[in-house]
Amino acid sequence: MVKENILSQKNYLGTHQELGEWVKRIAEFCQPDQVHWCDGSEQEYQTLCEKLVEKGTFIRLNPEKWPNSFACFSDPSDVARVEDRTYICSRTKDDAGPTNNWMDPKEMKAVLEGLLKGSMRGRTMYVIPYCMGPVGSPYSRYGVELTDSEYVVTNMRIMTRMGSAALEHIEQHGDYVKCIHTVGAPLEPGQEDQKWPCNPTVKYIVHFPEDHSIVSYGSGYGGNALLGKKCFALRIASAMSRDQGWLAEHMLILGAESPEGEKSYVAAAFPSACGKTNFAMLIPPDSMGGWKITTVGDDIAWIFKGDDGRLHAINPESGYFGVAPGTNAKTNPNAMESIKGNSIFTNVGVTADGDIWWEGMTKTPPANLIDWKGQPWDPASGKPAAHPNARFTAPATQNPVLDPEWDNPSGVPITAFIFGGRRSTTVPLVYQSFNWSFGVYLAATMGSEMTAAAFGEIGKVRRDPFAMLPFAGYHMADYFNHWLQFGRDLPNPPRIFSVNWFRKDENGNFAWPGFGENMRVLKWIIQRAKGRSSAVESPIGWMPRYKDMDWTGLEFSQDDFTHIMSVDRELWKKEVLAHEELFAQLYDKLPKEFLFMRELLLSGLWRSPESWGMAAERI
Ligand code: GTP
Ligand code: SPV
Ligand code: MN
Repeated sequence: MVKENILSQKNYLGTHQELGEWVKRIAEFCQPDQVHWCDGSEQEYQTLCEKLVEKGTFIRLNPEKWPNSFACFSDPSDVARVEDRTYICSRTKDDAGPTNNWMDPKEMKAVLEGLLKGSMRGRTMYVIPYCMGPVGSPYSRYGVELTDSEYVVTNMRIMTRMGSAALEHIEQHGDYVKCIHTVGAPLEPGQEDQKWPCNPTVKYIVHFPEDHSIVSYGSGYGGNALLGKKCFALRIASAMSRDQGWLAEHMLILGAESPEGEKSYVAAAFPSACGKTNFAMLIPPDSMGGWKITTVGDDIAWIFKGDDGRLHAINPESGYFGVAPGTNAKTNPNAMESIKGNSIFTNVGVTADGDIWWEGMTKTPPANLIDWKGQPWDPASGKPAAHPNARFTAPATQNPVLDPEWDNPSGVPITAFIFGGRRSTTVPLVYQSFNWSFGVYLAATMGSEMTAAAFGEIGKVRRDPFAMLPFAGYHMADYFNHWLQFGRDLPNPPRIFSVNWFRKDENGNFAWPGFGENMRVLKWIIQRAKGRSSAVESPIGWMPRYKDMDWTGLEFSQDDFTHIMSVDRELWKKEVLAHEELFAQLYDKLPKEFLFMRELLLSGLWRSPESWGMAAERI
C-alpha cells in the first residue's frame, strides 16, 4: 500500500521531469513512509546526525576531543565490501568477463524487484543528488542515490559534492547515474529499529553498465552503500570511460614539489588497504632538503587527455573513507589532522567519555574501551578493539596538505603512474617498466597479499590487475586493451613504475621503513620520469642503483638496498608462471602483446644474473 504522504514532504518541484517520475516510481515501489530531497546543507546534516544519535546508531563523541564527530558500530555481518555478492549485469556475460559475477540483466531485475518491493517500509527514502568531481567541470559526472539509510546520507555529504548545486546541474544537463540503495530491513508498524539496520543474509551490489544504473540491497557499509564511490566512480565509470576514451582508476593522486619549487603530479594504484591514503599524505623526511607532498585524492582518479596532449586527473570524491587501524601521529599525521572534527568513525573502539581508539593509534589504549561489537574490551583477549576494516570518513578540506589544485575543474597533469601491491617476497622496492606496453603488463600482472578489506584468505597472493580486480565494470582483458590503446595515442605518455613497500626480511619484519621514507623512492621516480636520474637494466625493468637514490638522513646501507632490490631468478620464474594463470582465465580477449612480453621476461630471467646491469654494478 502506498502511503498518502509520499512525496508530500519537501515535494520536488524541479524541472527534470524524468528524474521526478523516477523518484516517484521507486518510492511507490519501495513504499517508504516519506521522501526527503537532500539539499546538502549543514543544517540538514546536523538534523540527520541527531536522528542517528536518537536511534542509537551514532554515538556523539566528546566535543572537546572530537568536535562534531560520531562513532558507530555496524552489524557484525556488515563490515566490508562483499565481492561475492557484487555483480556486473551487462547484456552479455562475455562483456562482464570471467573476473566478475554476472547474471542476465532481465533475470537480475526480476530478483531485485522481488527484494525491493516494500523494502523501505517504515523508513524515509532520501534523494541524494550528487556530483563526482568539481561541479561544472567537463570531467565531472552526476548521480542521484535513493537510500533509506541516514548513515549513507551523512557519509555521502562528506564523500561527494551533494545537494542543491548538483541537482541544479542535473536539471540543466539531464544526464545522471541512477543509484538505488536499501538496507533491506523494512519495519512493520510499531517494530523497533536496529542500531545498524541491514539484511544479514541477503546482499546484492548490482551494476547495469549499459543503463548507467546501480542497485544495492542489504548492506549499509562503505563501498556497498556509498554508491558514488566504488559502484559509480569505478565500476560504472570504467565502463563509461572505455566508451568515451578516458580512464577511471583505483588510484591516489599526489603533488610533489621539489626544493627548487618544481611541481609534479603522480597517480598510484595500490589495492585496498595497501597504503594509498598514507602515500597521498606523505610527509617527506626533513633531511631531504624541503620536498613537499600535497594530496589531490586518496582512492580514485579519473584521467582524461587534455588539450595540451598531457593526461589530466581529477579526484571525483571530496572526502576520505580511510582505514583507521594503523593510522597514527607517526604513520600519517596529516590523516590524524584531517579527522580532528566533523568526522564519522565506523567500527572503532569507543570509551564511555566519548573518546575513540584503534589498533596502532597509540601505544597504550585508553581504559574501559567498548569494542566494535559494542562489548567491553579485554586487551588480553587477543581480539582487536577496532575491526581491521574500521574506517574514518573525513572532509578533504580538513587535510592540512590538500593540494591547491585539488578542486581545479581541469584536473592536474600526470607525470608518472605507480603500481604497488603487498608482497613480502619477490617484488623489489622499485623498478621502471621499459615502456608503456610493459607498464600495462606490469600493472595487469600485479599481485598482492590479501588484507581485511579484500575478499579471500588473508596473506595469500592474489593477482589484482591495476588494483582493479573488484572494481572493473567490464571484461578485464578489454580493460587491458583500453589501457594499451590509450597510451598509443599519447605523444609522450607518463612513465610507469612498480613499488613494493612490504618486502620482509628473514625475521618476518618489514625490510623497508616505508611511510615518509617512501619519498626517497618517489624522488627517484619523478626525476627518472623527467629523464634526470640514471638507472640500470634488469630483466624486469630499469632499476636505480644505490647511488641513484637520496639517502641523506637515513641509515640504509648498500647491503640493505641490495637485499630489498634483489630480483631472485627462481622466484621470478615462478612469478611469471603465475601470470599464466591470469592469462589463461582471460585468454579469449587477452592482448596478444602480453604473450610476447611474458616470453621476453622469461628469456631475460634465463640469462645469468651476472649479465644483468644491476648485478654488474654491484661487483
Ligand atoms: P583503501 O581505502 O582500502 O582503498 O586503501 P588504501 O590503499 O588507502 O589503504 P591505506 O593507506 O589506509 O593503507 C593502510 C595500511 O597500509 C595500514 O596497514 C598501513 O600501516 C599500511 N601502510 C601504508 N603505507 C605503508 C608503508 O609505507 N609501509 C608499510 N609497511 N605499511 C604501510
Ligand atoms: C576499498 O576497499 O578499496 C575502499 C573502501 O576504498 S570501500 O569504499 O568500502 O570499498
Ligand atoms: Mn579503495
